[in-house]
Amino acid sequence: MSVQFSPEKLDKVNELIKQYPEGKSKSALLGVLHMAQEEHGWLSVNTMDYVASLLNLEPIEVYEVASFYTMFHLKPVGKYVFEVCQTGPCMLRGCDNIIEYIKQKLNIEVGETTADGMFTLKTVECLGACGYAPVMQMGKYYKEHLTPEKVDQIIEECRNNSARNN
Ligand code: FES
Repeated sequence: MSVQFSPEKLDKVNELIKQYPEGKSKSALLGVLHMAQEEHGWLSVNTMDYVASLLNLEPIEVYEVASFYTMFHLKPVGKYVFEVCQTGPCMLRGCDNIIEYIKQKLNIEVGETTADGMFTLKTVECLGACGYAPVMQMGKYYKEHLTPEKVDQIIEECRNNSARNN
């Protein structure tokens, strides 16, 4: 299946590439991958190949970057992605219990998506917000000082938002 950016997105991609010196289009890779994920929801091999062709890169150069960063999804994800930090400070503040709680509450394992396509659970390394541990990232937002009650509240809010937007 062929993948393409919408014309508007393609303009933005070209603007971004133009910010770098000629022959240095690889510098735009992270930005273009973000745009691709925003448009397609996740990064399929076809999408990464398309990004490689836009930036004049070998596909492997795109795969290695996309697979290094946990913020890029290499398989379809739910509408809300819970990326729970599992590094030392969050671990000391109980992230294991939070991860376990989310798994039970949503009936999924780490890396899985709920059957209704609403939630995906991932674990990630330090989110740089250790002072607010335990922490998870949900899209653009950080959810801090997590407790089971807070997790319940977040899930409820996501469900309500989704129902409102449908
Ligand atoms: Fe979790 Fe730094 S260890 S945010």
